[in-house]
Amino acid sequence: MEGNQEVEVIHSWSAPRSLSTSLMYSFAQRDDIEVLDEPLYANFLRVTGAERPYREELLSKMDSDGSRVVKEVIFGPGAKKYRYCKHMAKQRVPGLTDELMKKGKHFILIRNPLDILPSFDKVVPPSFLELGLADLVSIYSELCEFGRPPPIIDASELQQDPEAALRGLCEDLDIPFQPAMLKSFGPRKCAPTSLAMHPISPIACLLWEAGRKSVDGIWAPWWYKSVHKSTCFTSAKPYPLPFPSSLYDLLEQSLPFYNMLRRHARQVSSLFGSPLPPPRLPVPANEKLLVWVGDEIVPRESAKVSVFDSVVQGGDAVWEGLRIYDGKVFKLNEHLDRLFDSAKALAFNNVPTRKEVKEAIFKTLISNSMFDNAHIRLTLTRGKKVTSGMSPGFNLYGCTLIVLAEWKPPVYDNTGGITLVTATTRRNSPNNLDSKIHHNNLLNNILAKVEGNLAKADDAIMLDKDGYVSETNATNIFLVKKGCVMTPHADYCLPGITRATVMELVIKENLVLQERRISLSEFHTADEVWTTGTMGELTPVVMIDGRVIGDGKVGPVTRRLQNAYKNLTAEIGVPIPTYTRI
Ligand SMILES: Cc1ncc(COP(=O)(O)O)c(C=O)c1O
Repeated sequence: MEGNQEVEVIHSWSAPRSLSTSLMYSFAQRDDIEVLDEPLYANFLRVTGAERPYREELLSKMDSDGSRVVKEVIFGPGAKKYRYCKHMAKQRVPGLTDELMKKGKHFILIRNPLDILPSFDKVVPPSFLELGLADLVSIYSELCEFGRPPPIIDASELQQDPEAALRGLCEDLDIPFQPAMLKSFGPRKCAPTSLAMHPISPIACLLWEAGRKSVDGIWAPWWYKSVHKSTCFTSAKPYPLPFPSSLYDLLEQSLPFYNMLRRHARQVSSLFGSPLPPPRLPVPANEKLLVWVGDEIVPRESAKVSVFDSVVQGGDAVWEGLRIYDGKVFKLNEHLDRLFDSAKALAFNNVPTRKEVKEAIFKTLISNSMFDNAHIRLTLTRGKKVTSGMSPGFNLYGCTLIVLAEWKPPVYDNTGGITLVTATTRRNSPNNLDSKIHHNNLLNNILAKVEGNLAKADDAIMLDKDGYVSETNATNIFLVKKGCVMTPHADYCLPGITRATVMELVIKENLVLQERRISLSEFHTADEVWTTGTMGELTPVVMIDGRVIGDGKVGPVTRRLQNAYKNLTAEIGVPIPTYTRI
């Protein structure tokens, strides 16, 4: 083949110690690829002034005019169809021609800094700059801006299953896979001990010859000592090295960049076997949410609480669900009253003020441009603890506030109605845990919901300790019998805000209302039944435990109250600042 044809360039971008040299060796074994080992290294040393033991030698032997290297070396003519360029992300320094990013196929190789840092060579001390993870994110971001998000491959995938990882990468790069990338160099065998320690297929141990390679850069004797001993992607060690505490801060600075890229990797290895495929969200628009956590607004994937938080340690938190209608938060003050009452009942300390909670709600809604058809899960935890444990005495940081606003239409079928079954799990009585406290210790309700799911019902009715109906696992409940509307006392159920609103509407509509103990058979034989809750509003129930309610259709009283509720949500509510109706 002539040495003057145009080649397709493949750029590999990574941090140091990420198996990038091993990957380059694997590509070098193809018959259609020539490889270049860090062609922009000299330019990087010249521009940054970075010290290296081989600095002078490198500057004298390698072209340090980066833009010329890009034009003549990286994109210059060649003898093979492809040219593979291994780059360290930090070598993409300012001043390089933008041809570099605009041309060729790019991919990103990542590795957990937890694995990079303990083995970071002593050629240069590890630093944020030397790792270049921020540069890696900036490369990713720029390629995304060009509309060409690069494939991302995690080094751990190469270690676990080199063939699958290489095939996947070739597919992403739209080049044919070649078995030569995994080619054996003769009959050598892996040492039995290493096989026993790291159970990988024998072929994966024989990918390339040990020792120096012709493609290696000048810096190889300093940097490639361990890779020269290897003949394959050294498999991940079963146990990590102890992490040096001197590098803790650097790890903390670097991890978010690695994690951000990892989220976009083709495949992510997990400690517990193969991960599930990414699930689809019920409302895809919720993929890009901004969430209030603690004292800041963060993107969905960063919206996390500490493992020391009371909600993790003991479900020790209180919460509210609120709905947004046409620029207004419905019953905001009533929800905040209940939130603060719950926090007081649980003896929380250092609770944020009402004004602060309101501001957090408004700021979150406005940041998300959520002014209608949205629901807020508002959580206040007892806060972070100084050490794991049960005692509120460990809570020395103050409460944690979470404002999770999502696009969420009413969650039940309010037109056709829902079916319920009765759960065997009883609703908490004030003897154990007062259900007037709206707390996050929801296992009581979740067990009932599990029963409902298993029975393929929409939700489950929960009875009180004496066998009377209390509510469903997630809503309050009403019935109509001979024109009279009834609902259980709020002794064993949450005194719902929608429940209270609907009770007021019943009176306004001149209907008769009774609040009393109601048995299950009264629900089975009711003319109409509906549930109430902020999340689902008023939801008709058409079947309970296999008994059809009324004629199995939405009844007239239910419909009347649904309309009255709809009108009320359109009328009242606390306006969200800055909202103007279009
Ligand atoms: C168990 C339970 N019942 C009833 C409700 C309905 O309450 P609200 O009308 O205040 O939303 C909820 C909502 O959080 C709930 O969790």
